[in-house]
Amino acid sequence: MTKPVRKAVFPVAGLGTRFLPATKAIPKEMLPMVDKPLLQHAVEEARAAGIEDFVFVTGAGKRAIEDHFDTDSELNRTLGARGNDEALRAVRASEIGAGRLFYTRQPTPLGLGHAVWCAREMVGDEPFAVILPDDFILAGVPCLKQMIEAYDEVGGNIVAVVDVPREQTNRYGILDVAADDGRLARVAGLVEKPRPDEAPSTLSIIGRYVLQPEVFAALGHHLQGAGGEIQLTDAMATLIGRQPFHGLRFQGTRFDCGSKIGFLEATLAHALSRPDLADHVRAMIRRYA
Ligand code: UTP
Repeated sequence: MTKPVRKAVFPVAGLGTRFLPATKAIPKEMLPMVDKPLLQHAVEEARAAGIEDFVFVTGAGKRAIEDHFDTDSELNRTLGARGNDEALRAVRASEIGAGRLFYTRQPTPLGLGHAVWCAREMVGDEPFAVILPDDFILAGVPCLKQMIEAYDEVGGNIVAVVDVPREQTNRYGILDVAADDGRLARVAGLVEKPRPDEAPSTLSIIGRYVLQPEVFAALGHHLQGAGGEIQLTDAMATLIGRQPFHGLRFQGTRFDCGSKIGFLEATLAHALSRPDLADHVRAMIRRYA
């Protein structure tokens, strides 16, 4: 029996420099994907996977995040009084229930590994998920749900992976694969941002993880890796051989919303997937094509 995954960590303390000046006063994770912030899409994905407790690792200038997931009684009252049920439903769906949302701060953005480490006390001694909200995933079955299903089969640690063109391996954590059934790849090692000619494969880790709490001990050493940042990949690599470690090729499409083009493409793809918008968007694209 595997221990259930009940908690998810959302590292949202980065500076979002690629979207400046939009992200000067608004956190990158609050940029809207059509009509919902990226971070709310991530929270809904976690909820659909059975996550009960949400841990946000925030930093300076992220207050809008706290307000967004809080209950705004005044707004709810006003919408209710106006009989605007649709807007009220949308607002209520952004709320996270009492005692289920936890905040911790990453005082300086020292890297993803450090951000996850900042959540150690809130996660405690149980398996947990990590979701990077700027990886937006369109999927029939939400990506994290697919990962938890895989976790129930094989236990241990699971990272979501996509096959990338070889010239892009230097942007990702890359799997060294021991065995592969086409869906789950058993991991023999991990390398952060290898040069294309040195990459052991083209299977790249994207922003979804199911991890065992032992990763915190490795993160606690605060070793700087590629780019001088404290890398989650390096800490995860220390678990291999001690615990099961797999990469899951999930069903779905992932968009890198940390980049402008990725964000635009995700916006289009998401709008085209929505029955209320698809026809309008298709007609709009034809006007510009
Ligand atoms: P990114 O590296 O894509 O975010 O990290 P960034 O640094 O904010 O973006 P740019 O490159 O300056 O535009 C992916 C996720 O990890 C979080 C970010 O907030 C984002 O959700 N992160 C990153 C942290 O929480 N702390 C860090 O030190 C680094």
